[in-house]
Amino acid sequence: MGTVINVSNRLPVTIGADISPSSGGLVSAMEHLGSRVELKWIGWAGGHVPEQDQRARIALELKERFNYYPVFLDEADEADYYDGFSNSTMWPLLHYMTMYSRYKTQWYEAYQRVNRIFAEAVLRVVGPGDRVWVHDYHLLLLPLMLRKELPRLKIGLFLHTPFPPSEIFRCHPDRDDLLQGMLGADLIGFQTFGYLRHFRATLLRVLGMESAIDRIVHDHYTTVLGVYPIGINVDKFKQELNSDAFAWHMAEYRAAYSGKKVVLSVERLDYTKGIPRRLDAIEQFLDQCRYREDIVFIFISVPSREDVAPYRALLERVRVRISQINGKYSTIKNVPLLFLHRSVNFNQLCALYALADVCMVTPLVDGMNLVAKEYIFCQQEKIGVLILSEFAGAAQELPNALMVNPYHIRQMVEGLKTALEMPDTEKTQRMAPMRARVTRYDAGHWADAFLADLNVCKGEPAVAAATPEIAVADVRVLIEAEPVALFLDYDGTLCEIRRKPAAAYPQAGIAHLLEQLAAAPGLDVYLISGRTQEEMTHWFGCFNFTLVAEHGSSYRLSPRDAWVLFDSKADLGWMDKMVEIFTHYTDMTPGSAVEVKRSSVVWHYRESDPEFGTWKAHQLVADLSEILSNLPVKIHHGKKIVEVVSMHANKGLVMSAFMARRRYSKALCAGDDETDENMFRVADERIVSVKVGDGVTAARYRSPDPAAFRTFLEAFLAERGRRTGRSEV
Ligand code: UDP
Ligand code: G6P
Repeated sequence: MGTVINVSNRLPVTIGADISPSSGGLVSAMEHLGSRVELKWIGWAGGHVPEQDQRARIALELKERFNYYPVFLDEADEADYYDGFSNSTMWPLLHYMTMYSRYKTQWYEAYQRVNRIFAEAVLRVVGPGDRVWVHDYHLLLLPLMLRKELPRLKIGLFLHTPFPPSEIFRCHPDRDDLLQGMLGADLIGFQTFGYLRHFRATLLRVLGMESAIDRIVHDHYTTVLGVYPIGINVDKFKQELNSDAFAWHMAEYRAAYSGKKVVLSVERLDYTKGIPRRLDAIEQFLDQCRYREDIVFIFISVPSREDVAPYRALLERVRVRISQINGKYSTIKNVPLLFLHRSVNFNQLCALYALADVCMVTPLVDGMNLVAKEYIFCQQEKIGVLILSEFAGAAQELPNALMVNPYHIRQMVEGLKTALEMPDTEKTQRMAPMRARVTRYDAGHWADAFLADLNVCKGEPAVAAATPEIAVADVRVLIEAEPVALFLDYDGTLCEIRRKPAAAYPQAGIAHLLEQLAAAPGLDVYLISGRTQEEMTHWFGCFNFTLVAEHGSSYRLSPRDAWVLFDSKADLGWMDKMVEIFTHYTDMTPGSAVEVKRSSVVWHYRESDPEFGTWKAHQLVADLSEILSNLPVKIHHGKKIVEVVSMHANKGLVMSAFMARRRYSKALCAGDDETDENMFRVADERIVSVKVGDGVTAARYRSPDPAAFRTFLEAFLAERGRRTGRSEV
């Protein structure tokens, strides 16, 4: 399966006097890939290693022992990139907690710099056919940095945290860069479908990019979106539960807590974990409880990010609350809260999981929460109860847990009572399906699923393979022939689509190309657009070519001629009714507008709220399909417009009429949207058709975008010039 280059903020090692490997979900998921892939791991070595000699020694040892490639950060970058941007800006924002999110430009500069250092580290080790898997919020700019250097590289990104609703993410000063950075990946994985949904909504609202439910096509490649809930290292837990150390701790803890109910909480000391509210619930519970001397609440609070102010403040707050509650409810026989502000050994942790009658996992929001899954797996001998916050990603997979809203203190109090008094049969009924799921969908399964999907991502242009990219060599017949006609659409074909239609005015480069086209001998140019006569005269009136307005409803042969209706007998009696309906939709949809042309009426919603505008447009199209079924019109739902056009205005009909009138030996037609498909569908062997942009098409060739198509036309003119001995460009 080739090499996977795993890139995460931290390497799974602790560097002290010696280097020791550390464990965790990610390490075990990667270990599971075993012999099928070669694994290289790039990450921060942790700590501060200023000496070059020492760095070289560590790098060599990590490479030889583990195939790890360390990144070293200086103290300033560590403070600004890790404590600052990653943990003071991104972490709170991704967890919907804007009140904790702080921002400094210098932090973002460090984040960019460190992402660049990671990119260089990848580029140093990457080889042909390798896949790169980037992890988490520390490295969101990395995928695009790599994509720019190696466009064909397969890049996956997995976000271990939540992704917030667009209203939250849009508060971020660097939101555009961060989203673009992520979109450099071929595959972006999320823990839950909810986070994926938020991401898509953010792309739409922040970048104006529409996406399908599982992918987004942009800049000629596709980013696939997927949901991969991370699991635990089942094998490692299984092994531990059978070990002597575990049995020894179990016996020890059983004796210590004999006759008592144990309620366990395990987490990093983080404000996302909902610790103060849980303490409020515990206090209320103790207040009402008749058997409180028989209950012990154990808190394993692993110290975390202590250089970041809100974490220090939380520690103080928690300490104060715990001593208040213990002061109030301790007796000579029992102290209700046991608070360990440190991590415990793996065998101690497993014994605590196995012992606890209840595990309380009540984060305010959490990407996944592995503790919930670990508790379920370790409950082997006797069956306990998991109280789980509905805002943990794990809640999506564990519906049989006792679900609580961590903001609803009374509900948590009731949850505790229910859990402690639950009959064994109900406990078993709840636990069995959850254990089956946790066992089956473990860390290895997660890594396999992500990499399997990354494998089938192409990282290639999103154009349909059946339509080859147009090249001058492919249309040599057009270079040789005379006379030749060019039927060219304007917006989206010769000029990029602009947010405001008036901004598509032909600027210097495009105007120059139009001049060259008009001056080329043996070439007749037909500019064939949906725009009005007035706009076309104003913008293109000076050029010596035929203008066709409103999708073919009228034309003007040359600057000397007047505009003529293509079909003067066309029935346009439906237009007043259309204006009335469109005006009604405009009233309901802020930012939208009606445009009345000679043989069509258009509803524009480019300036409206993107989701609301699209929703109203679909409603409008549905309404129109009923109202217009017997009228000589067509409904066209285009790029941010809905247009009702006379059946007689058809670019294909116009093109055929001009082809017959001048008996051209060859022709080229090009366009970007549905109205241009009428030209592409004309069955005439003399015509070479070109679709500009993505999407299904009847055209023979494709050009990725207007810039590429302009380049093609320039080369085409140059070739024709060379043939006739006249330089035209
Ligand atoms: N953990 C640990 N040592 C401890 C307590 C917990 O290594 O003393 C581990 C725990 O087993 C779990 C991880 O820390 O795998 C916490 O992961 P989780 O997804 O619950 O939360 P996160 O810390 O990623 O926000
Ligand atoms: C969360 C993040 C991880 C991070 C871990 C520990 O799980 O998603 O990326 O490694 O917390 O945080 P730390 O800041 O100590 O690496």
